[in-house]
Amino acid sequence: MISVTKPFLPVRESFDKYVDRIYQSNWLTNFGPLERELTEKLKQYLNVENLLLVNNGTLAMQVLYRALDLKGEVLTTPFSFVATTSTLAWENLKPKFVDIDSTSLNINPSLLESQISSKTSAILPVHVFGRACDVWQIQEVAEKHNLKVIYDAAHAFNVITHENRNILSYGDASTLSFHATKLFHTIEGGAIIAKDEAVIKECKKLINFGIAGYDRIEGVGTNSKMNEFAAAMGLAVLENIDDIMAERQRVHETYNKLINAELLPNSIETASNNFSYYPILLKDENICLNVRDNLLANEIMPRRYFYPSLNTLDYVKYQKCPVSENISKRILCLPMYPSLTDEDISKICKIVNYVSK
Ligand SMILES: Cc1ncc(COP(=O)(O)O)c(C=O)c1O
Repeated sequence: MISVTKPFLPVRESFDKYVDRIYQSNWLTNFGPLERELTEKLKQYLNVENLLLVNNGTLAMQVLYRALDLKGEVLTTPFSFVATTSTLAWENLKPKFVDIDSTSLNINPSLLESQISSKTSAILPVHVFGRACDVWQIQEVAEKHNLKVIYDAAHAFNVITHENRNILSYGDASTLSFHATKLFHTIEGGAIIAKDEAVIKECKKLINFGIAGYDRIEGVGTNSKMNEFAAAMGLAVLENIDDIMAERQRVHETYNKLINAELLPNSIETASNNFSYYPILLKDENICLNVRDNLLANEIMPRRYFYPSLNTLDYVKYQKCPVSENISKRILCLPMYPSLTDEDISKICKIVNYVSK
């Protein structure tokens, strides 16, 4: 079976050398030496000043909402993985859906203002598939209405804008997911990146039960620390990041050569592509399901990322988002990972091109 993604595993020696250090230090979790080393290496690699590692991308978001004291309504995109909405609901925040732009597939900044009310406290866009949001227009609206901007950047590891800045440096804060299937991973893990160092300090307290010092607890915390084995995997994967990126680019370019070009979403002009996903847009839902079923019959597993449109979830108040609802019914992500062979890509494209005709 060729799956939509395949976790990258570094060679054993590379991982083992970090595991040996864990056995020597006997320090397994609670801000250990490897967690600290990974924090510093990622800050340098991503060119960001304030970064906190956590145990997954979902808790990164929930902790951040608390650290920024979000209340009431949050404007967000309906076209994303379910965690973008469920984290808000879990924290008793009300998602207010703003439809997406059909070109970028990200929240449509020109629709934001019409959805702002006296209860709105923040905007939560997603750089979906690593495709950069219009961070400039979003910032303008946020400043005008005094709203916080948090980017769910789960897919946006290694995206550089035309201003030569990492996409994680925009807005008040961003969160990353380092789940095993992501282009950079720590098996399970994530990170919070914030403009303000005080926000990271607050998050660091919140992810450790609210412990603020010896014998001192401040406020309601949780447990969301990254353990040393996860950090070891992160350090070993980071050693391979250039090869991972190059391989993903090869897969992306091979698809581009072989797939019917009309199926590709437009590229983003304002930022680099991190080759994290390979989405295609079919003409309608029937063709989309037909392509999926034909791929499955050939032991190839694409995914309907992202379906359903999140404004249709059973625990949110339905708000019409015609563009997102339309796109989510006819989008498919094809297999995308470093070791995917040209032969496999060719086989996938033949099926897609034939069935979608
Ligand atoms: C857009 C988005 N946000 C949040 C998450 C949650 O991250 P995690 O799986 O690390 O909890 C994911 C996970 O895949 C995601 O795709």
